[in-house]
Amino acid sequence: MKRTILVAGVALGLVMVAAVADAQVKKGKTRPATTKQLMSGIIQPHCAAIGEAVKQAPADDGAWEKLATHAAVLNEISYTLMDDGRCPDADWANASTILRTASDAVLAKAVAKDHAGVAAEFAKLTESCGACHKVHKK
Ligand code: HEC
Repeated sequence: MKRTILVAGVALGLVMVAAVADAQVKKGKTRPATTKQLMSGIIQPHCAAIGEAVKQAPADDGAWEKLATHAAVLNEISYTLMDDGRCPDADWANASTILRTASDAVLAKAVAKDHAGVAAEFAKLTESCGACHKVHKK
């Protein structure tokens, strides 16, 4: 009898852990934006814009400023990914840290108008996408 209760308790615990982990990956605890929306609405467009600037160097001060803005937005979103109970595990946290560090570096290179530097740091930035997706994107 005790054993049955124990087994049932453990099973219920596992179900609850699985449900919470899933909820965190798809959406935070209180804010409405889903992870999918953060990805398609913020991360993807800003990442693509930096990718374009890597292919075709910014032509004037305004274009460099825009590039810096894309990097700054990706840096902010690295904090959002960790807020509101979103982070389920170390893989997620590590990928967010890569995004934060690399976007900060892209931003610094954009401010310095160092195109080769932007390209090198952008390569690191995109490692964050794969690092998280290979574990958490189904
Ligand atoms: C910390 C984790 C994490 C990081 C970092 C991350 N992603 Fe994602 N991404 C996800 C998850 C989880 C999904 C799946 C969301 C879902 O379908 O519920 C996803 C989905 C996506 C999608 C599909 C969106 C859709 O509409 O189906 C795109 C595009 C995307 N990510 C782009 C990126 C890019 C580009 C980067 C790197 C600059 C990146 N992501 C970094 C976790 C991450």
